[in-house]
Amino acid sequence: MPCHLDTMFDRPQSAVLPRPPIPTRLRSQPEAFLVLRRNPLELWGAPAYRELVLPGRFLGRQQILLNDPAGIRHVLLGNHENYVRNEPARRVLRPVLGEGLFLAEGEAWRHQRRVIAPALAPRVMPILSRHIVTVTARVEDEIAALGGRPVELMPLLQRLALDIAGQSMFSLEMAAFGADLRRLLIRYAQGYAKVGLLDMMLPAGWTTPLDRGRAAFRRDWLALMDRVIAARDAQAPAGVPEGETASRDLFDLLRAARDPETGQGFDHALLRDEVSTLILAGHETTAVTLFWACYAMARLPEHQEAIAAEASGLDLSPEHAAQAVPKLAMTRAVIDEALRLYPPAYLLVREAVGPDVIAREAVAAGTIVSISPWVLHRHEAHWDRPNTFDPHRFLPGRPAPDRMVYMPFGAGPRICVGMQFALTEATLVLARLLRRYRFSLPGGGEVVPRGMVTTQPDRPVRFRLAVR
Ligand code: HEM
Repeated sequence: MPCHLDTMFDRPQSAVLPRPPIPTRLRSQPEAFLVLRRNPLELWGAPAYRELVLPGRFLGRQQILLNDPAGIRHVLLGNHENYVRNEPARRVLRPVLGEGLFLAEGEAWRHQRRVIAPALAPRVMPILSRHIVTVTARVEDEIAALGGRPVELMPLLQRLALDIAGQSMFSLEMAAFGADLRRLLIRYAQGYAKVGLLDMMLPAGWTTPLDRGRAAFRRDWLALMDRVIAARDAQAPAGVPEGETASRDLFDLLRAARDPETGQGFDHALLRDEVSTLILAGHETTAVTLFWACYAMARLPEHQEAIAAEASGLDLSPEHAAQAVPKLAMTRAVIDEALRLYPPAYLLVREAVGPDVIAREAVAAGTIVSISPWVLHRHEAHWDRPNTFDPHRFLPGRPAPDRMVYMPFGAGPRICVGMQFALTEATLVLARLLRRYRFSLPGGGEVVPRGMVTTQPDRPVRFRLAVR
């Protein structure tokens, strides 16, 4: 590592960035329901950031919020088969994710995971890095055309991440489909992604009014996915550089993949659900990670300069970017810290199938178990200066955080299957953008995270990206 970076790393810079208020009194259930719809990140009071186990009741159901690493290990790892995704999450996610990996359970999940995991394994990163960098270079040139005028960053990063997802999945430029895809996703986010009261109260199998709209949405979504897949099939295979696998993208890998135990592949309907799952689970999460990393860098110029210096000496071209990733230590530390303070998946919810004991608490069947990366990552017992943005905690040589405390990608067998891809993408995009542009916030920077499907900024934010 060059010595000028060492000196920068020796002078840690830190800052407490804005966050939603912490309620000072207990809320009634109707109030809690309203907060849940406005901004779930305002739900938890001070004890949530101090205590390890918080039992409670909501809508007549036993609930438990877990901040205890051993208890979390038990739920996500030791006895994970007793804890499944709950019905409201299924209602909300099924229209886009269908029977794909995210919502599958039991043997169907095991089969899908065995087939998909190798397509996203570390050895595939050189193929994916090529796509990541090709798309990023295109967006960098679009930014240059702005001539330094302020730009709203979130839509730009969403389009960038969607293009990367489309290119990595299908080797297709998403220009022909991107607008339709985003239109549908906005319709989904505004109309159906929020959990209604009846979604929470009605048992599985009962149709809520929102479910009817969701079913219509699913028909439109599947039709669009069929169009994308047909366009991909009509496209002649591109040349593959010598020495690389013959698969040009994730779709090739998924279509060719077979379960190592049963030899079974995916039929068209399941392949389409897997594609939807990977695009959906992958692009918005990575876009918000990049947003918060860019936001923190605009507020903390010293870290920004360290990243620009680190990236400037490296070959970040499509052919060589994958080899540069391990050398981007500061860039990666900023991504890790952004994922700590702004975890895109801010709440993991499970429902107990049968009775159990977690962290010495008796838990009845049907209990809702919440594990919140948002709360865990800002918990007083687990972190030094929990609300301070300090990437130095993640630099090489520092003790790694407990995997049951720092979990932006979840933990246990259902840990995010796209983790390597997401980290590679976020690191390369941030390094390339900051190497070329200096980020600032001309209108000031009071942006507060808001829990939607992912952790979003609470308002549109314009950044100035000046050429270095
Ligand atoms: C920064 C970006 C990302 C974050 C923060 C993230 C976070 C997560 C988390 C927390 C889970 C576990 C959820 C739970 O246990 O309830 C998960 C699962 C999953 N993620 Fe990601 N993810 C990201 C990117 C991606 C990407 C790029 C892909 C695909 C290309 C992806 C695909 C999936 C899938 C399919 C699952 C379900 C895995 C299973 O149940 O076996 N994610 N993700």
